[in-house]
Amino acid sequence: MNAVYLDNHATTALDPQVMAAMRDALPAYGNPSSLHGHGRTARKALLSARQSVAEAMGARQREIVFTSGGTEANNLALRSAYQTMAAQGRRRVITSSVEHAAVLETVATLPEADVVIIPVDDQGALEVAALEEALSVPTAVVSIMAANNETGVLFDVDHLAELAHGAGALFHSDAVQVFGKGAMPQNADLVAVSAHKIHGPKGVGALQIRKGLELPPLHSGGHQERGRRGGTENTLGIIGFGVAAQLIDQMDHGVLERIENLRDRLESSLLDQVDGAQINGGLIPRLPTVSNIHFPGLEGEAMVIALDMEGVALSSGSACSSGTMEPSHVLLAMGLSYAAAGSSLRFSLSRLTTEEEVEFVSAQVPRVAQRLLALGL
Ligand SMILES: Cc1ncc(COP(=O)(O)O)c(C=O)c1O
Repeated sequence: MNAVYLDNHATTALDPQVMAAMRDALPAYGNPSSLHGHGRTARKALLSARQSVAEAMGARQREIVFTSGGTEANNLALRSAYQTMAAQGRRRVITSSVEHAAVLETVATLPEADVVIIPVDDQGALEVAALEEALSVPTAVVSIMAANNETGVLFDVDHLAELAHGAGALFHSDAVQVFGKGAMPQNADLVAVSAHKIHGPKGVGALQIRKGLELPPLHSGGHQERGRRGGTENTLGIIGFGVAAQLIDQMDHGVLERIENLRDRLESSLLDQVDGAQINGGLIPRLPTVSNIHFPGLEGEAMVIALDMEGVALSSGSACSSGTMEPSHVLLAMGLSYAAAGSSLRFSLSRLTTEEEVEFVSAQVPRVAQRLLALGL
């Protein structure tokens, strides 16, 4: 068997249909802003991709701004929303302790912002009362993710958006992980997504900006994306994104059930075989695609390396923090100790994951865990 890839929350394999569409589009080099035939062809392809991404997000085509990925979409949302609202005297920015760095590091750099970080409980659920209290001060923007990348824990963003709106604030949601795996935010002002988490290419994403909301661009120097993001569009990436979005939009509901079934089987098998193993965030609603498991006494990085040698690719934290040996801020925010966070592994599946692969991983993990425990690693 080829190496089993269970790191789909870090990135996903290109779907063969996405690959084919991108390969076919490679020779077409027209600039979508040009008036001639080459330009028109590129413009038509962009329009069709915009339509597909909008439909899959439950958005209007004109609300979509293509970006270089989820990180830029979050940056654009937060920086432009804050700039607009701060001009009206609203400087409070509210977010959660378990957001992706694309949100946490961005809010930390907003000029003169009064940033409030809302904690989560031991399952990773937001302390909503703390959010309500924070909203008593004039607030510019509330940014809460729709699903956590490490644990899959889901947030009731529709309710949170209502709370934000009730206080006159804008509501942004990082929906990078929920896209294609769960319900999209319904009433957020701003929603960020990324192509490479849905079997599309890397380096392309989108921000939905609710109709009627006028925000300043981050990139000046071009009229592209209705003046909301200057720069010649990444046509090829956007074409791939469009096909990837079409595929999730057309996906049978049974696909997610099948993935959840496989995830549940993997979990119960590992919990049965490894003493003291526990699911982080396992007691509340979460995405069907992920399991974050604490294996007491084991060193997560050592497990990742040993499992890689056995043909299993997974992660010991979010992709962005792995490699730094820093324990996951998400697990620490849930109250896990440094040691417990450092001995947790993230298994993330996709529609390409097979039953045979899950069986293989269910056998390899306990074997490798036993070996490392015996070596005291
Ligand atoms: C929740 C979340 N937000 C944002 C990002 C960043 O997206 P991108 O890699 O497209 O910049 C990621 C990627 O890991 C993510 O999981």
